[in-house]
Amino acid sequence: MKLIKQGAEANIYLNNKKIIKERIKKNYRIEQIDSKIRKFRTRRESKILEKVDNAPNLIKSSDKEMKIEMGYIDGEVLSRIFDSLEEKNKICLLIGGKIADLHDKEIIHGDLTTSNMILNDDLYFIDFGLSFFSKKVEDKAVDLHLFKEVLKSRHHKNYEENFKLVLEGYKKSKDHKDVFDRLEKVETRGRYKKKHLNKQQ
Ligand SMILES: Nc1ncnc2c1ncn2[C@@H]1O[C@H](COP(=O)(O)OP(=O)(O)O)[C@@H](O)[C@H]1O
Ligand SMILES: [Mg+2]
Repeated sequence: MKLIKQGAEANIYLNNKKIIKERIKKNYRIEQIDSKIRKFRTRRESKILEKVDNAPNLIKSSDKEMKIEMGYIDGEVLSRIFDSLEEKNKICLLIGGKIADLHDKEIIHGDLTTSNMILNDDLYFIDFGLSFFSKKVEDKAVDLHLFKEVLKSRHHKNYEENFKLVLEGYKKSKDHKDVFDRLEKVETRGRYKKKHLNKQQ
């Protein structure tokens, strides 16, 4: 068993084409609360893994040991390759389409970053510890908005054009019109907040 990543939340081990994700203790949290959070996220992540097609398959999970065993996705974590992608337009469309598939299943990822996407011939999502079930357009719009913020901060070059392509891909979703309307509101709200905060400073 090989430790491949020591994250803020979890240790990730690779063993025979299987990934073991173990949520580790956070000493800055009160122990009982910490254990509740880790249990909840472990359960949540395994439940969602069972329902999503473009995600690792769930092998087993234990909320006592705070461990999830899942299939290994052989590919590149998108954050590492995004900036130098040759077919970036195509990949942005693909990302939007896959987010639409998730949302149409009433799943909100909750942490849509390029570090939580793996690319090979297809695009896969990982890291569902903050995910939840919802059909609300508000939740879907916020999920998309957070992804835009990730593009803006981590892949700034042409991020507006790239995000437009993500939205183009998202048109696959049955609810895309309502979600886009709400997204505009979410963004206006964000701008208002920022302006307001700046004034207070
Ligand atoms: N099923 C998987 N297949 C391949 N790599 C994975 C898988 N799960 C996690 N990883 C690798 O481990 C990293 C961290 O996993 P993640 O679930 O995102 O945990 P964290 O909460 O630490 O962000 C990922 O960015 C990826 O490199
Ligand atoms: Mg992650």
